[in-house]
Amino acid sequence: MNRKYRKTIIAGNWKMNLLASQVKLFAESLKTLVPKAKWCETVVCVPYVMIPAALKAFKDSRVAVGAENVNENPKGAYTGEVSTAMLTDIGAKYVIIGHSERRQYYGETDFSVNAKLKAALEAGLSPILCVGESLQQREMDVTNEFITYQVKAALADIPVEKIRRIVIAYEPIWAIGTGKTATSDQAEEVCGEIRALIRKLYGARVARAVSILYGGSMNEKNAAELLSKPDIDGGLIGGASLVPEKFAAIINAANQDGE
Ligand code: 13P
Repeated sequence: MNRKYRKTIIAGNWKMNLLASQVKLFAESLKTLVPKAKWCETVVCVPYVMIPAALKAFKDSRVAVGAENVNENPKGAYTGEVSTAMLTDIGAKYVIIGHSERRQYYGETDFSVNAKLKAALEAGLSPILCVGESLQQREMDVTNEFITYQVKAALADIPVEKIRRIVIAYEPIWAIGTGKTATSDQAEEVCGEIRALIRKLYGARVARAVSILYGGSMNEKNAAELLSKPDIDGGLIGGASLVPEKFAAIINAANQDGE
């Protein structure tokens, strides 16, 4: 983390878990466990139908609410889809874009990810762009090339003045939901490469200001070590974000006093 230049962000990605009727209890527990997250921004990204319940439950707290996906088109005949305007209209602030599960199971491509990012920025949402290599790619030693490609493709034609609102999450696919966390050195290496790429594309000031998160089996035990790295500005957390005690412990690890 480097709090001098950028925000520390702990974001939960609930994926397709929990129910709207469970949100209130979750929020109450979390608020008791984390009375004041002074140093870190907390976000919960939840299924569309749970966004209103989450907004209501976290209303008197500093926890922001986000979606897990969004459609790239402004409106129209896209049965079953949700637009950026629908998200901002109800008060969502963040949206996860390009999660590996959406790329893998729902055919999202670098082109659709780029289009979704543009739509989210246009609407004033803060997108959390996910990138990450597979195990085969890591074993073939093409991680950096692949991540560079993914980030560049996602950011194509996005002007520098828009880039500051983007959060990037490095989520190695082999670490998601597997209990196999990247070591803090592995995670730092890739997050550092992403920052170097942003520097090349947008300049040093932007690179210094962009928050880069790590995701993939991050939990209450390994969070502090991962967050101690200079280029890891927070986490995008799946499984451990479903349990208030675990999520709170990660937020508290990110919320230690000091720079
Ligand atoms: P886990 O924390 O369950 O590994 O999930 C990570 C993730 O995919 C967050 O987007």
